[in-house]
Amino acid sequence: MSATLPRHVAIIMDGNGRWAQQRGLARHAGHKAGIPAVRMCVEECVRRGIGALTLFAFSSENWRRPETEVSNLMTLFVDALEREVTDLHANGVRLAVIGDRHALSVRLQARVAEAEHHTAGNTRLRLQIAMSYGGRWDIVQAARKLAAAVASGALRTSDIDEARFAAGLALGELPDPDLFIRTGGEHRISNFLLWNLAYTELWFTDLLWPDFGVAAFESALACFAGRERRYGLTAAQQREADSA
Ligand code: FPP
Repeated sequence: MSATLPRHVAIIMDGNGRWAQQRGLARHAGHKAGIPAVRMCVEECVRRGIGALTLFAFSSENWRRPETEVSNLMTLFVDALEREVTDLHANGVRLAVIGDRHALSVRLQARVAEAEHHTAGNTRLRLQIAMSYGGRWDIVQAARKLAAAVASGALRTSDIDEARFAAGLALGELPDPDLFIRTGGEHRISNFLLWNLAYTELWFTDLLWPDFGVAAFESALACFAGRERRYGLTAAQQREADSA
């Protein structure tokens, strides 16, 4: 694997609504048109040996969208999971949903559980779909786990460190994303993976999500390969750390 290839890519798939509106279509048509771009990213990660991909499909805040848009999106997720799980499995993809899954419909929760179970043994690509997910929610739920462990006497406050805290987050033992991609022209994190993006390289494009194709994905990877990552060290210190 190339040293300049990200191990983990995280994506905010923005711009579906505008893509549809530009064509005089309902917003839902834009979400549906975004599915091939999801498939492309999964295929490219598998093909290139990128081990983890995390996609922001539905945020904690998206529940406040119009009721029909929310219910259409939930139906789209159910259908997409049903349709794609066989191909995902055949390609060695292990799927997991991160987020407050109890907020999802019972039907969607069942599809998620089936898809996770079906693909649990796969190792080529770890695919996380964030649904009803928020970075602040994630930090709070991790803090609650630690608080419960302290309250029960299983953990001392002084044992809490960054590694132990991170282990309780939704991404668990996965490496932090190396590359973050956001389509749709906005330059913000929007409550995605707040803890895990601390040292992630950020890449933004004005392309709307349904228009995000292989060439754009390649541009993001090429840009990432040219970045100097220093994690707070000097360039000389980082070179030494890289060669150790
Ligand atoms: C943001 O665009 C996109 C979403 C809220 C939904 C994204 C979902 C998909 C592409 C389907 C993925 C399905 C699976 C199973 C992974 P927006 O509506 O905020 O666009 P706008 O900014 O133009 O309004």
